[in-house]
Amino acid sequence: MNIPVRPRRLRQSEAVRNLIQETRTHPSQFIYPLFISEQKSLRKIHPQLSSALTLSMDEALKEAKEAHQLGIKGILLFGVSDKRDSRGSEALRKDSALVRTISEIREACPGLLVATDIALDPYTDHGHDGLFENGKILNDASIEVLSEMSVLHAKAGAQILAPSDMMDGRIGAIRRTLDQSGHEDSLLLSYTAKYASSMYGPFREVLSSEVVGDKKTYQMDPANRREALRELTLDLNEGADMVMVKPASWYLDIISDFKKHSNVPVVAYHVSGECAMIEVGAKAGLFNRERAIQENIISMRRAGADIIVTYFAKELARASI
Ligand code: PBG
Repeated sequence: MNIPVRPRRLRQSEAVRNLIQETRTHPSQFIYPLFISEQKSLRKIHPQLSSALTLSMDEALKEAKEAHQLGIKGILLFGVSDKRDSRGSEALRKDSALVRTISEIREACPGLLVATDIALDPYTDHGHDGLFENGKILNDASIEVLSEMSVLHAKAGAQILAPSDMMDGRIGAIRRTLDQSGHEDSLLLSYTAKYASSMYGPFREVLSSEVVGDKKTYQMDPANRREALRELTLDLNEGADMVMVKPASWYLDIISDFKKHSNVPVVAYHVSGECAMIEVGAKAGLFNRERAIQENIISMRRAGADIIVTYFAKELARASI
């Protein structure tokens, strides 16, 4: 006699469903991005993405403490500046609001990991992540500036440096520069497969960043999957401690590939456009905001992401307490 197969038995109650859940999330797996402004007493909320905050140093301190209390282990800081030039000189200013904020947060929240985005786009008048002259990116010269920027942030106390520029060879060069300046413990979180995506819109609004042309000569073509493995091999050989896929939702195959083909932590960046889509859609009554966020985040964990950078980090942490 055939015994009837009843998979629904495992779905019969919340208790059974919780017991057998294959994928879970925990506040310690989230990294919370914050934008640091030179202005004083500022707490600016993006109109379509209420969790993308531009903050003055004092407000950033409060926000970091609150995130830490909710169990979040890492924040990712971006500079915002209205002083732009072709070389992104502000990126190397030793007393910028960003640099001072790194030190202040380290002092105020010893157990919190401070990561910083390493790229020039908040500071260049052409909006590119590297140096750009006569319509061309200067790869190797950019790497030198990004290495200097990394050391500046490491000196201020950032434990994680996250190069998001996609220049060739930057992980190795930054690693060498950090080691030579006594920062061999600084972690490198590489934006390994960063795609030339339409989903960075709200982020560029926060930065007031207008790009001359586009970033397609360094960010990857969304059509390419195997090419991401090539970037992965290079970054691992050059010494990346963690590897990132960005954006996340439309690139779950890449996250899954990274999990399979590496043995370092895989990070997914739930970028501004992805988060804003949920927020705008929920406001329009198309679906439930919390459920959409949970489903979106669990899909990244299911695909293999160990860590998720998301503007929703605080509300996700709150929901799981
Ligand atoms: C650039 C950078 C970008 C983001 C993080 N770092 C935008 C870009 O490449 O133009 C996007 C993050 C987001 O959309 O949330 N250094």
